[in-house]
Amino acid sequence: MKICYLSEKEMDMKKNVKDALFLMDRKSHLGNEAMASTWRSPSNIALVKYWGKYAVQLPANPSLSFTLKESYTETRIELIPAADGKRSIRFFFEGKEKPAFIPKVEAAFRQWEAFLPFLKNAGIRIDSRNSFPHSAGIASSASAFSAMALGVCDLAARLSGERDRDVFFRKASFLARLGSGSAARSVYPEAALWGYSASIPGSSDEWAIPLESLHPVFQDFQDSILITDAAEKAISSTAGHGLMEGHPYAAIRFQRAARHSLIMSEILARGDLAAFVELVEAEALELHALMMSSHPSFMLMRGSTVEIIHKIRHFREQSGIPLCFTLDAGPNVHLLYPHDVKEKVGDWVREELTDLCPQDKIIYDVLGQGPEKR
Ligand code: PMV
Repeated sequence: MKICYLSEKEMDMKKNVKDALFLMDRKSHLGNEAMASTWRSPSNIALVKYWGKYAVQLPANPSLSFTLKESYTETRIELIPAADGKRSIRFFFEGKEKPAFIPKVEAAFRQWEAFLPFLKNAGIRIDSRNSFPHSAGIASSASAFSAMALGVCDLAARLSGERDRDVFFRKASFLARLGSGSAARSVYPEAALWGYSASIPGSSDEWAIPLESLHPVFQDFQDSILITDAAEKAISSTAGHGLMEGHPYAAIRFQRAARHSLIMSEILARGDLAAFVELVEAEALELHALMMSSHPSFMLMRGSTVEIIHKIRHFREQSGIPLCFTLDAGPNVHLLYPHDVKEKVGDWVREELTDLCPQDKIIYDVLGQGPEKR
């Protein structure tokens, strides 16, 4: 089991790698002028799930996700030199000031300033908006923290003169992870893997890496998000991750997820739809089984979630179309299918599933090309 069993030597090595990544930024200072950067960053949907963490937001197992296109956060970060030399943060969401968001954002900046000292003495104004309705029940922390991390990295690159693209995205992924684990995966196009696997070169617990080979069948894969319940999550993902400590199935889960990540990366390269369907559904149900078997136990699926799952499986058997479902930490269902069956699946969804989504809330998303600077 991998719950903070790193030796001191390993921890030191990790620290050296991070220090090297941010070497030039440590010497950077904010000038007298205000500066701003705007990034649009997408949400992602995990195929192999991250559930359980150790130390400072490091994953107990590798996870793998598709990057989405239509579900994104757009964030402008402005740094204003502070006359009193102290940091202050103001956060605006869709034009309205939201002091309630400050503690989480402030916590991220407190971690980021250790690598980017110029963040310590700036007035920071953040303006953010989501492409999806706030009450859609879609987790926005991945898109929100990746958009913020990209903006901060962009400002850092301007101050330091650093030009390396790979270094830029690795830093952004690292900083995004400190805000919200799954955000680490949102900075790359199409598909990303986060978490160390001995069998996957370049993989790391500290940041995500882009998945190099994705078969064409997956490159325009569809994700229709069926919103069965738009209410706030009954339990935060932080609390959920916490319940993996001492969980009776933790050790076996972390081993299985590590194996699943490797198998999934091979499936994605091969374009093996049958294997994809089987593993994606197994992962979703395993995640929810962990929730139900934790102490205290909790259940995020609703009756409509279960009904949709049955309908998807039935439709797959009847039609032979390789569509499948996945779930994140909530009751909404992500329906995944190839582009070439889009019309057939769309007709079926409208006929069979809209009634199970209150207010007919369905977000039609697709694999995306990653974040964009605006
Ligand atoms: O990034 P967090 O702490 O919100 O956790 C995300 C957890 C899942 O969405 C359930 C799985 C994942 O890998 O995205």
